[in-house]
Amino acid sequence: MDRTFVMVKPDGVARGLIGEVISRLETKGLRLVAAKLEKLPEKKVMEQYREHLEKPFFPSLRHYITSGPVFLMVWEGKNSVPVVRTLVGATNPADAAPGTIRGDFALDIGRNVIHASDSPESAHREIGIHFSQDELCSYKRVDESVLYE
Ligand code: RTP
Ligand code: MG
Repeated sequence: MDRTFVMVKPDGVARGLIGEVISRLETKGLRLVAAKLEKLPEKKVMEQYREHLEKPFFPSLRHYITSGPVFLMVWEGKNSVPVVRTLVGATNPADAAPGTIRGDFALDIGRNVIHASDSPESAHREIGIHFSQDELCSYKRVDESVLYE
């Protein structure tokens, strides 16, 4: 089953949106296999956002991501990477469609509530930054026989 890495960013945690995010992904049919609240050390932020290290927005992104705890999750399900990116919405909340998390809960690109992996390769890499193998739980949801054909 495909896995993706999802993170409620400090603004989402501070605004009490963890439950809303979990609820949307659970209702979609995805299976939560790991989760924890953590204040990220600089090293993990640099690894997480390594493709953005040279971007002009990186200093403010780093400052924001380390400003408070984040909620880290791993979700499993068919096509979970593109499915979650669709539920999350466009990077800039001003462009995010209504019904998406960023479309419904955010206004500013620098406070866009949530991160989700952009490819299966990124998901594998990002899960490895934040979770050890023994933190990933293996189980089935009772509705999976109905969710999948
Ligand atoms: P994420 O990695 O957080 O899921 O977001 P994303 O794929 O939709 O967007 P990405 O291009 O990877 O950018 C990572 C995060 O950096 C901040 N950002 N600010 N001011 C800017 O132009 C700008 N561009 C990106 C956003 O918080 C974005 O989520
Ligand atoms: Mg990204």
